[in-house]
Amino acid sequence: MIYLDNSATTRPHPDVVESMRRAMENYYGNPSSLHHKGVEAEAVLKQAREVAAKFLGCKPGEIIFTSGGTESNNTAIKGVAFQYQNRGKHIITTQVEHPAVYDVCQQLASLGFETTYLPVDRDGRVSLEDVQKAMRPDTILVSVMHVNNELGTIQPVAEIGQWLKQFPKVLFHVDAVQAIGKVPLKLKEAGIDLLSVSAHKFYGPRGVGILYKREGLIIHPLMMGGGQESGVRSGTENLPAIAGMAKAIRLLEEWGPAESRRLQDLLVQLREGISKIEGCIINTPEAHTAPHIMNISVPGVKAEVLLHALEERGFLVSTKSACSSKANEPSRVLTSVGIERDCALSSLRISLGRENKAEDIKRFLEALTVCVGTLRSQMKSKTKSVTR
Ligand SMILES: Cc1ncc(COP(=O)(O)O)c(C=O)c1O
Repeated sequence: MIYLDNSATTRPHPDVVESMRRAMENYYGNPSSLHHKGVEAEAVLKQAREVAAKFLGCKPGEIIFTSGGTESNNTAIKGVAFQYQNRGKHIITTQVEHPAVYDVCQQLASLGFETTYLPVDRDGRVSLEDVQKAMRPDTILVSVMHVNNELGTIQPVAEIGQWLKQFPKVLFHVDAVQAIGKVPLKLKEAGIDLLSVSAHKFYGPRGVGILYKREGLIIHPLMMGGGQESGVRSGTENLPAIAGMAKAIRLLEEWGPAESRRLQDLLVQLREGISKIEGCIINTPEAHTAPHIMNISVPGVKAEVLLHALEERGFLVSTKSACSSKANEPSRVLTSVGIERDCALSSLRISLGRENKAEDIKRFLEALTVCVGTLRSQMKSKTKSVTR
């Protein structure tokens, strides 16, 4: 079996699993307890915070451990909205955000907040000019993802953040869930106030993530309780998961940009191969894209049918994003970039990870060629028999 669904989630690295096992076995104390088991657990937590801070280029006090990307996005957006609603109730985001941002903004509408959902171009990119045009005196937050989870498009977040620096009261949130370890970003230079990270996208465990929150920035906490994580996220810390995430971050640092370049080469191989398959359309743009995501369409062939045909041959891919793949509606992201309904309904996402090799891509391309050929000819003979 070849796993090509790494944007949905990744297989945890064996060292991550081992770190978690050790944390569960040895560091079971509550980091808030005063006895030595608590102190030991607190030391593990402190170390993990330092690892995360070093990786992101920030201070340990700016790291808030959460349950993942969804919670980080919710905490950032609602935390700012509730804290600064007296300043204004206007938010700017894009039409192609993950539901963990998009739906949060929609939910806030019922509380009197207004969101501008910026359009994107054919490549799925938002423009700085559109952000500039959307700014209002009552804007309190701009939230733009770094890498799009369906197309792989990289947004100009550094450019937007630098421009936003002239409005210190307008906060800038970046959903970097798909970018971490793939596309570099300098938090401070890019003027980012809040940034969301999720460990299961980079070989860490699921159910754990980070919200980077700039030092001194106050946001309204969503979780009240014991006051953990500087009072922003109460709840006994999930130490084994946090230790696993710290291990995954260390591994990312070790692999460095070499792994991104390796994935980039595989993506090029994939693109070249797919472009030769009759009936296949590549939706992922060539420029400004992450090294691990390729979105394609085979118009006329239902995405789900193609997905299962590929699965029978041992290749696992996904339709739309995993979080919304069950709804029979075309993807909001793909329709936002102008892809027609039929084409959007037949789209597949192939996403690469550290275990994929050039040989896997070669074999996948062979399987895709056969599956597309068979399904398209079945489709043609069906239409013929209907029209006869
Ligand atoms: C861009 C983006 N943001 C947020 C999330 C949600 O992250 P999590 O699964 O950790 O809640 C995902 C997950 O697919 C994502 O791709």
